[in-house]
Amino acid sequence: MKIGVVGSGYVGLVAGACLADFGHEVICMDVDEKKIDDLKKGVMPIYEPGLDDVVERNVRYKRLSFTTDIDLTVKNSDVLFIAVGTPPKDDGSADLQYVLAVASDIGKHMNGYKVIVDKSTVPVGTGQLVKKTVNGELKKRGVSMDFDVVSNPEFLREGKSIHDFTHPDRIVIGCESEKAGEMMKKVYRVLYINNTPFVVTNIETAEMIKYASNAFLAVKISFINEMALLSEKVGANVQEIAKAMGMDGRISPKFLHAGCGYGGSCFPKDTKAIVDIAAKNGLEFKVIKSAIEANEIQKMKMVEKIVDSMGSVKGKTICVLGLTFKPETDDMRDAPSLVILPELIRKGAKIKTFCPQGFKEAKWRLAEYSDSIEYCNDSYEAASGSSAVVILTEWNQFRGLDLERIKTSMKDNFFFDLRNIYSADDSIRKIFKYSGVGV
Ligand code: UDX
Repeated sequence: MKIGVVGSGYVGLVAGACLADFGHEVICMDVDEKKIDDLKKGVMPIYEPGLDDVVERNVRYKRLSFTTDIDLTVKNSDVLFIAVGTPPKDDGSADLQYVLAVASDIGKHMNGYKVIVDKSTVPVGTGQLVKKTVNGELKKRGVSMDFDVVSNPEFLREGKSIHDFTHPDRIVIGCESEKAGEMMKKVYRVLYINNTPFVVTNIETAEMIKYASNAFLAVKISFINEMALLSEKVGANVQEIAKAMGMDGRISPKFLHAGCGYGGSCFPKDTKAIVDIAAKNGLEFKVIKSAIEANEIQKMKMVEKIVDSMGSVKGKTICVLGLTFKPETDDMRDAPSLVILPELIRKGAKIKTFCPQGFKEAKWRLAEYSDSIEYCNDSYEAASGSSAVVILTEWNQFRGLDLERIKTSMKDNFFFDLRNIYSADDSIRKIFKYSGVGV
C-alpha cells in the first residue's frame, strides 16, 4: 500500500517509519527543508529511542523516503496521513491552520480516490472541516473525485513511541464508509492479524476518544498529586496509597505516580482544548478544569517545599537534575522545569543543572534566565558546591547516583526528590535532608 505522511514531527515520523516497517511504501513529507535534508542523510530531528534504526532500515529497503514535495506525496499515495501540529492558541483552543492547509493542499493535488487520515489531535468536528476544505478545492478545480476522511488518533508516549506504535492497546478508526474502514485495516494489517483490538466508529467519536483518554489520565495525575500534598500533612505515604488503590481492578495502578506535575505536548494542550470545546457547546467541564488548576498549583507547591525547607534560597546554588518533561525525550514542551527554575531564580537562587537530552531546548526556552543557570556536563559537576539537589525528571541515570560522592561535594545536604525515585531507600535519609512528594 502507498502511504503519504504529511508532517514529519514526533507523530508523523514515528508513524511513517513504523508503517514502512509494516511493509508499506511510505513518503514522509515536511515543509521544513533542513529537516528533510537531514532525514535524507539519516540525521533524526528529534531524540526518540530506536527511531533512527527503524528509519535507516526502511530507507535501505527503499520503503521509506523523504520529500518537501506535496504534489508528489499526494499523487503517489492511496492513504494520506495528516500529522502536523495543532498548537494551542491563547484561549486554549487548538490552532487548526496547519491541518486545514494540508487538507487544501490535498484537494489541490489529488488525482483519484484517497483516504485522508487525521492523526493530529484535533477538536471534534475537524474531520468534517477537512472534508469541506478538500471539497472546496475540488470545486475550484472544477473536478469531482471520491475521497474519505478518517480520524485515527495516536496514543504514543514520547520515549516509547516505537513500542507504542507497534504494540498498541487499541486502534481507533473513525470513518463514514466501509471502503475507508477496509483500507485502514489494510494499513494496520500487521496489527489486525495479531489480534490488536480495533474500535471502528464514527469520526466524531474517534476525535473524542483521544481527548477523553488524555484528559482522564491528566485527572488521574492531578488527583494523586493532591493526595500527595495531603499525605505530607497527615503523615501518610502516597506511594502506598497509590499501590493499594491500584490493586482495585477498577482503578489500575497506572498513572498514579505523584510528582512535580504533568507536562509534555499532549496533556496540557489536550486538557485545555477539551475544556474549550465543552465551553463552545455550552458546558463547563469542572473536573478537567480543576485538574489543570491543580497541576499549576502542584508546580508552585514544589517551589514552596524547597524554599520552606531551606529557609530561603537567596544566594544559594541549587542543583537541578532533569529538565525534560519526562525521561527518554528531548522534549521540553510544558515541562515543569520551565516553571520551577524561573520561580527559584526569582527567589534569588542560582541553578546548576544537568539533563541527558534537554539542554538544546532548555537553552532557548530559558534564555532570559541564562545568567542564573549553569549547564553542567554531568550530575556530579552540577551537585558540586550546591546546597540542594532537586530531581525533576526520573532519568534512569539519576536512580543510581553515588550519593556519598554527591553529598561530599555539596555545601549543604538538602535533597528534593520530586519524582520519588529514592523514596523507598531509607539510607538516603541518613545522608541527606530528604523530601519526596507525599512520602
Ligand atoms: C501522553 C499519553 O500517554 C499518550 O497516550 C498521548 O498520545 C500523548 O500524551 P506523553 O506526553 O509522551 O504521552 O507522556 P506520558 O508518559 O503520558 O506522561 C505525561 C506526563 O505525565 C509527564 O510529564 C509525566 O511525568 C507525567 N506523569 C505520568 C506523572 O506525573 N505521573 C504518572 O503517574 C504518569
